[in-house]
Amino acid sequence: MVDLSTDLGFIKLKNPVITASGTFGYGEEFQDFFNLDILGAFVLKGIYKNPRSGNPPPRIHETASGLLNSIGLPGPGAKELQKIVKRIHRLTKTPIIINVCGDTDEEYIEVAEIFDKMDEVTMLELNISCPNIKRGGKCPAQDEKHTYKLVNQIKHNTSKPLIVKLSPNVNDISSIAISAEQAGADCISLVNTFLGMAVDLDSKRPVFKNLFAGLSGPAIKPLALKLVWEAVQSVHIPVIGIGGITSGRDVLEFILTGASAVQIGTINIVEPKASVRIIKEIEDIMKKLNIKNLDEIKGKLKI
Ligand code: SIN
Repeated sequence: MVDLSTDLGFIKLKNPVITASGTFGYGEEFQDFFNLDILGAFVLKGIYKNPRSGNPPPRIHETASGLLNSIGLPGPGAKELQKIVKRIHRLTKTPIIINVCGDTDEEYIEVAEIFDKMDEVTMLELNISCPNIKRGGKCPAQDEKHTYKLVNQIKHNTSKPLIVKLSPNVNDISSIAISAEQAGADCISLVNTFLGMAVDLDSKRPVFKNLFAGLSGPAIKPLALKLVWEAVQSVHIPVIGIGGITSGRDVLEFILTGASAVQIGTINIVEPKASVRIIKEIEDIMKKLNIKNLDEIKGKLKI
């Protein structure tokens, strides 16, 4: 028997596989594909206080080994999501993570407070890293001081464990990770998508109305691993690795690099049952390599 559980300090997950925000709907859409109980946890699509329609189409564009998205965080608003969360909680006891968004710091705090009061919610993930909202503008995770201020305010107004989702579109991931930790983050997750763009030769126009979009998928895995490594070296809180994970082997590579858990994203869109396969692959590889539990390899990369 191998033990897939992982301890984030504030919660022990049955395995390290968490489905990433925006790639797994509100969870209930996937109940016909597999039993949601098998997941370590799942993150719901990012939510603002009020309903939003998101960006105009096209919203996604395939690239070699990757996907560009400019979705723009559409959603039903916090009130409606509260009803959905109650429904999902009746379906599964797998920990539910709310991806908290805001146009202003005040909105972030308000949304965090709303879901902090819900027993059905296990953790909050602060989305300060979406690249698709302000064209050319900075998201909070691209500024150390803003990251500190916002995380600190949310920590003072909420009591649930707080994961802070970081952006790869920065010069120095360590300083942002440290800011989040010093402000009280219980955990950091990285990376959100890399800024990219696509052009249409026929129309001679950019594919996306916002010009830039966020790149995810296998193309970014090596870039994400590097940033996860740097973050792990910089902070003492747990790190959740995200970026192009498609297999059990990928998951174990992130754990070896020091991640305590992972989020899987783009693969859910091409293969809705990917989580089932990936969890089985982790188990098979651990058996084959005689790894009894994840702590045996976590952060044990030999440099
Ligand atoms: C989006 O909805 O634009 C993507 C969300 C994100 O990158 O955080």
